[in-house]
Amino acid sequence: MSPGVRNRSAEIHLVAGARPNFMKIAPLLTELEKRPGFRPVLIHTGQHYDKAMSRAFFEDLEIRPPDVNLGVGSGSQARQTGRIMQAYEELVIDGPPDLVMVVGDVNSTVACSLVAAKLHIPVAHVEAGLRSFDRTMPEEINRILTDAISDYLFTTCSDADQNLLREGIAPEKVFFVGNVMIDSLMRVREKARRSDVLERLGLEERGFALMTLHRPSNVDREATLRGILEAVERVQNHLPVVFPVHPRSRKMFGRFGLEERIDGLEGLKVIDPLGYIDFVRLMDRARLVLTDSGGIQEETTVLGIPCLTLRENTERPVTVHQGTNRLTGPDPERIVAEAEKILREELPGTHRPPLWDGAAADRIVTILSERMLSA
Ligand code: UD1
Repeated sequence: MSPGVRNRSAEIHLVAGARPNFMKIAPLLTELEKRPGFRPVLIHTGQHYDKAMSRAFFEDLEIRPPDVNLGVGSGSQARQTGRIMQAYEELVIDGPPDLVMVVGDVNSTVACSLVAAKLHIPVAHVEAGLRSFDRTMPEEINRILTDAISDYLFTTCSDADQNLLREGIAPEKVFFVGNVMIDSLMRVREKARRSDVLERLGLEERGFALMTLHRPSNVDREATLRGILEAVERVQNHLPVVFPVHPRSRKMFGRFGLEERIDGLEGLKVIDPLGYIDFVRLMDRARLVLTDSGGIQEETTVLGIPCLTLRENTERPVTVHQGTNRLTGPDPERIVAEAEKILREELPGTHRPPLWDGAAADRIVTILSERMLSA
């Protein structure tokens, strides 16, 4: 554990790199800036760099501009991770912080934790302990490695605690604090009610499905992607499907020559990626969500919207056991059968797993304050 910091404020590097990180760091930054004794430094690795994938989220979540942007950009797994490590190591050697705080499971998460751990700087991992038990996912490797070298492991659910203890992590490092992503969701939900995205897209409340798709396992394999499209073709016969397309998926549609087929589907509205506020509004008013994202499984649970996860596994089983999530994998028959079942059912109502209450960042900073500032 980190030694206590006396007579000066503790410098915390808060690291964000890719889209799903931004809603997690927003409440943490707010909380760190509010409390005496902390000096947060916001580091953007530049893993995501487009306005649509990055800047729009800073605006919607009212996050101040980063103090540092490492500007690494896209690349293969090793190239991207390596570039982040090199750039971040220089920064840390130049001015080591008292703690490095990372969130989620993207390449930036593992890259910055590795740098910090090797320079003997304590690491706090927010959203620790999630496991899909599928090591073909780059995110699963990132999760396991980050947790193995973290000093503070902040978890969203009790199964994450169990996973960490099973892997031999000392119990005194593990803190069940709730879900910072839900902190952000609760903060913007009111503002999202004023979004005009439904009108802009010509959609009726509860009259559409919302889809996102970007996992390499779904979009990088032609046969799998074709199967999912076949399912979408059938679902859009029942109700319009809105599909904000991730850049990775758009690239793959081009590579596999699927653009014409997609354009030909009248009920499928293909749009550019949306900002956070518009996206929350769409989730909140959808009849059904189809996704392979991690965070959306959690957000739909809290919003009470049925969610079909087009994956064979999830690192977030609490959203299945205590939420609105169902796993279908990429099989078109299963996707369509589950979607049709959902359309025959009532909406499930909202679900709140324990401590998904909007106060996770507050708990995290309180724990750090007790451990770091008063030793
Ligand atoms: C990354 C994360 C994934 C997360 C996802 C959310 C890893 C291993 N994966 O996957 O966990 O769910 O972000 O989006 O960290 N691109 C742009 N503009 C951008 C960023 C990317 O056009 O701002 C394009 C690039 O062509 C790139 C591709 O999207 O090759 C994929 O980006 P990358 O960051 O490598 O991985 P994601 O699939 O986005």
